[in-house]
Amino acid sequence: MEQLQHVAIIMDGNGRWAKAHGKVRTQGHLVGVDNVRNIAIKANDMNIKVLTVYAFSTENWKRPLEEVDYLMKLPALFFNKFMKELMEKNIKITMIGEMEGIPQETAKVLQRAIDETANNTGMILNFAMNYGSRREITLAAKKYALDVLNDKAGLDIDEKEFGKYFMTADFPEVDLLIRTSGELRLSNFLLWQIAYTEFMFVDEPWPEFTPERFEYYCNEFLKRDRRFGGIKQ
Ligand code: IPE
Ligand code: IPE
Ligand code: MG
Repeated sequence: MEQLQHVAIIMDGNGRWAKAHGKVRTQGHLVGVDNVRNIAIKANDMNIKVLTVYAFSTENWKRPLEEVDYLMKLPALFFNKFMKELMEKNIKITMIGEMEGIPQETAKVLQRAIDETANNTGMILNFAMNYGSRREITLAAKKYALDVLNDKAGLDIDEKEFGKYFMTADFPEVDLLIRTSGELRLSNFLLWQIAYTEFMFVDEPWPEFTPERFEYYCNEFLKRDRRFGGIKQ
């Protein structure tokens, strides 16, 4: 899909899905992990260049300790189960967010996955972990200020230049943002990056969001008329 280079997903609704099925919240997260694999494989098959998935926000530290602990175990579970397949598919793992603050064991697992897949040339599966958009913007401003102080940057910076200070600097623009489970908010995700992104807020909770539905929403995206402030000729 040439017009669809970068899709971002707010994977929401694991807990409510679990509750609705008489399970505990963590069981929803467990099914959610398998679904990251399913959607990533589909996106890769569709030739999407970057799939960014919101896995843990800077606000998610507020959750009960047991749930945070469980969520921090999921990267190990994901890579133990799917690393072989990700390598076969030539998928490259990257991360936005801060390693600092993530428990050491989890950070190690993430770093290993990033390193092992660094030379893969297929789709980029980009995990937003310990990620918050306002934090990212603040860090970008700080880095820029330091560059100015050190004479590495001038004051006449434009948007493109400033964008290079963001964690997404190497990625194409986000074309499509999907949020599952019916919530109509952004929850501190990619605020700078989504200035002209198309949004899809869909009702399915993340554990029920199938590759077929993913493809359906991507096709719906292609029908949208993107004008970027101009006039359609
Ligand atoms: C998304 O599901 C996973 C994370 C935020 C880590 P939730 O855990 O937010 O599920 P709900 O929204 O409570 O149903
Ligand atoms: C957003 O979902 C974060 C992730 C999907 C990782 P939340 O469930 O944490 O967001 P809120 O609490 O509904 O805003
Ligand atoms: Mg939620």
